Amino acid sequence: MPCPAPILITGASQRVGLHCARRLLDDGQPVIVSYRSERDSLTELRKRGAITLFGDFDTEAGILTFIDTLKKHTGALRAIVHNASSWQAETPGEEAQAFARMVNVHMLAPYLINLHCADLLHACETADIVHISDDVTRKGSSKHIAYCASKAGLDSLTLSFAAKYAPRIKVNGIAPALLMFNEHDDAAYRAKTLAKSAMGIEPGPEVVYQSLRYLFDNPYVTGTTLTVNGGRHVK
Ligand SMILES: NC(=O)c1ccc[n+]([C@@H]2O[C@H](COP(=O)([O-])OP(=O)(O)OC[C@H]3O[C@@H](n4cnc5c(N)ncnc54)[C@H](OP(=O)(O)O)[C@@H]3O)[C@@H](O)[C@H]2O)c1
Repeated sequence: MPCPAPILITGASQRVGLHCARRLLDDGQPVIVSYRSERDSLTELRKRGAITLFGDFDTEAGILTFIDTLKKHTGALRAIVHNASSWQAETPGEEAQAFARMVNVHMLAPYLINLHCADLLHACETADIVHISDDVTRKGSSKHIAYCASKAGLDSLTLSFAAKYAPRIKVNGIAPALLMFNEHDDAAYRAKTLAKSAMGIEPGPEVVYQSLRYLFDNPYVTGTTLTVNGGRHVK
């Protein structure tokens, strides 16, 4: 029997997280989403039965407040998808603040949520944690050192929590390269980015939903980070 408990997706009021929340609702899967900015998409998700909870992961206090709020809304979780992410400029003079904020959202939030919500996941016979990382951790980034390092730390959490929580909770990662451009990305940037992968396409967020589906449905995969990069590593 599949567990009827909700799946938590963090940072799911837009783009990839929102798409995955909608697709899981299409499957009849209850969903809880965290958000920081109120958006029309949240009204739509609420109408469809999703629970939407404010969560700001910039600070330890914000993360712990979110965990308390979450526990007031559910006693069980089928899965947690750590999707919330911040891609901040590492501006001279402000490097330390940007580094700390990205460590908090990419590492401290997943770390504390995983530690404090294990009891919710154990309410299901099998459960999943999925960390949405980034393909950039494969080779590093001279321009986005702090972003890349904080996502690499998230990859490390995948290994450690997979060992800690086996066999009841599988813990995996998804490491996408380009999924969706931002509105302000210009033609030159788009062309340069598309040329980096063997497939040469902007796949959209559905490939993340497909990867989640695979990880949720497969009982023999844990401690793995799925590369979803259009073959960047073979180009
Ligand atoms: N898009 C791509 O092409 C791509 C490529 C590689 C990897 N990824 C990864 O895939 C995932 C989804 O990508 P995306 O482009 O859909 O992400 P996104 O829109 O940039 O960010 C997702 C959400 O994270 C929330 N967030 C940011 N900082 C937060 C904080 N301190 N506390 C709580 N929430 C916070 C934002 O909420 P607010 O808007 O309310 O602030 C945002 O809606 C991310 O983990 C990203 O790193 C994406």
